[in-house]
Amino acid sequence: MILDVQHLKKNFGKVHALTDVNLQLHSGEVLGFIGPNGAGKSTTIRAILGLIKETSGSVTVFGEDAWKDSVKIHKNLAYVPGDVYLWPNLTGGQTIDMLLRMSGQKHTEKTDDLIKEFKLDTSKKNRTYSKGNRQKVALIAACSTDVDLYIFDEPTSGLDPLNELIFQQRVAELKEQGKSVLLSSHILSEVEKMCDTISIIREGKVIETGSLESMQHLTRNVVAVKTASPVDGLDKTEGVHQLTFKNDQHTIAEFTVDSDKIGAVMEILTKCTILQLKTTPPTLEDLFLRYYHSDNGQKVGE
Ligand SMILES: Nc1ncnc2c1ncn2[C@@H]1O[C@H](COP(=O)(O)OP(=O)(O)O)[C@@H](O)[C@H]1O
Ligand SMILES: [Mg+2]
Repeated sequence: MILDVQHLKKNFGKVHALTDVNLQLHSGEVLGFIGPNGAGKSTTIRAILGLIKETSGSVTVFGEDAWKDSVKIHKNLAYVPGDVYLWPNLTGGQTIDMLLRMSGQKHTEKTDDLIKEFKLDTSKKNRTYSKGNRQKVALIAACSTDVDLYIFDEPTSGLDPLNELIFQQRVAELKEQGKSVLLSSHILSEVEKMCDTISIIREGKVIETGSLESMQHLTRNVVAVKTASPVDGLDKTEGVHQLTFKNDQHTIAEFTVDSDKIGAVMEILTKCTILQLKTTPPTLEDLFLRYYHSDNGQKVGE
């Protein structure tokens, strides 16, 4: 076991930031840590990094205590925070080398590859970089670091889709090399492609853990469609929920559909000649609103 968080609780004075966090990351696995803003992802990660001490519960990394043995643990771990702050007067290139040196690593060919791939102009000073570019600096340093555990806190929040894809490929490469990765995000669709397992945190508590397939009920897409002829039978189609028609002719519809039923639904829509189609993956916030009471975390869907 690379990472084991058991019944982690963290209070900041009267603020109960974490009430019951359980996370397990096995060797060679990519674990998605998903939850809305303020749920406790960064606080959990800070406890894993030994930056804060738990109120109760336990956090072990590589079998060692995250708080007491943090110096040892950090030698085998790379971390990219959600908000990357960098020395303002160093260039991106100097910063990458500095970050590598600080973790006992060297600038290698891989570092150059990453700089090229992410198209980072390393000659610019950090203070001139956008959030996305600062994130690239930290990601390049982390990804060219050779360790066993990589922790990324909302790594793609400042990246455009192209760079997000590059990041996804790099995570896949780490996985191929047998590395372990913890990836936090508040957007499920951003990380679902990369993860073997997903743990969902809400209001300081991990409420679901499992493979994405086992959480198929959480991945429901919103569909808005306009057809030439009336759509009939959708209300009786398996996997279709919350169907509403926006006109009397039944040619403008909105509904949600389970991810594994999209194919069947498309067949029905195609028969009616699709004029316009928009599908939106659900945000976690939508899912939480739909599936859980806001006060006690109980399932209400289905
Ligand atoms: N140092 C702190 N002092 C007081 N409250 C904090 C502190 N750090 C985090 N919190 C609170 O803990 C909760 C979880 O925050 P955080 O872990 O940053 O969430 P996330 O990363 O999931 O968005 C929030 O309500 C936040 O306000
Ligand atoms: Mg955070």
